[in-house]
Amino acid sequence: MYFPRFYATMNVQMFTLTTPRLLLRDLRLEDWEAVHRLHADSDVQRYMLPGQGTERYTRRFVQVSIEHAAQAVRTFFGLALIRREDGVLIGTCVLGATGIRRQGARVGWTLGKAYWGHGYGTETAKALVDYAFGTLGVTQIYGECFTGNIGSRRVMEKAGLTLRPRSLWAEYAAGLRYGDLRPMLIYALDRRAWKPSGVLLSDSGKPPGARLSDSGKASPDQVQ
Ligand SMILES: CC(C)(COP(=O)(O)OP(=O)(O)OC[C@H]1O[C@@H](n2cnc3c(N)ncnc32)[C@H](O)[C@@H]1OP(=O)(O)O)[C@@H](O)C(=O)NCCC(=O)NCCS
Repeated sequence: MYFPRFYATMNVQMFTLTTPRLLLRDLRLEDWEAVHRLHADSDVQRYMLPGQGTERYTRRFVQVSIEHAAQAVRTFFGLALIRREDGVLIGTCVLGATGIRRQGARVGWTLGKAYWGHGYGTETAKALVDYAFGTLGVTQIYGECFTGNIGSRRVMEKAGLTLRPRSLWAEYAAGLRYGDLRPMLIYALDRRAWKPSGVLLSDSGKPPGARLSDSGKASPDQVQ
């Protein structure tokens, strides 16, 4: 069921971002099992949305990411996080124009539990922010997470995003929008307040037609 679409993307040049310890690259079809193993962990799932730990969800996330990579106008990046020293896939991240704020790009990340606490989340977030502002030229970056997700909140702060005021009602409404009863916070960074972190060693440049300041299709990965 997935092969025809996969072959249709074979000629697309793979998108990459390189940081001191990580390679952020387009997801490949064969990544889904490794991604699913990381996402299926109950400690990881605690911070994800309902249904995101399923095999079906992961297959779709990988598939849709591949389809976006092949589009003439690119509005979504679903990337694998590869540890450069050993080539191990340690997580995934997203950068997309989808979501509630059409003028900005949404960022998100998920690392396997074994890889938490080594600064990889921060390195990923800084790379996405620097690429989105520095190369794509978006006007605002934002990310959402559950109130209790201290790790993700801290990662966003370290990447320069700040908590944006929201009423408690709005926090719950944000969670409910994704079918979750927990309140959800929003962090953002405006382009004029951005200072490059220097973490991005190289990038593949701006994909043809990349357009992250417009709204795009509904994302397969709403909270990462
Ligand atoms: C959130 C996540 C990406 C953090 O990645 P990480 O690589 O472990 O984060 P870092 O090592 O870069 O840590 C950044 C900071 O957050 C802190 N931190 C990380 N996880 C934490 C936790 N669970 N509780 C408290 N602080 C935490 C670190 O101590 C560090 O702070 P410091 O520099 O002030 O000491 C990772 O825990 C994860 O994948 N969680 C599950 C999925 C998830 O929550 N995704 C985000 C959904 S919105």
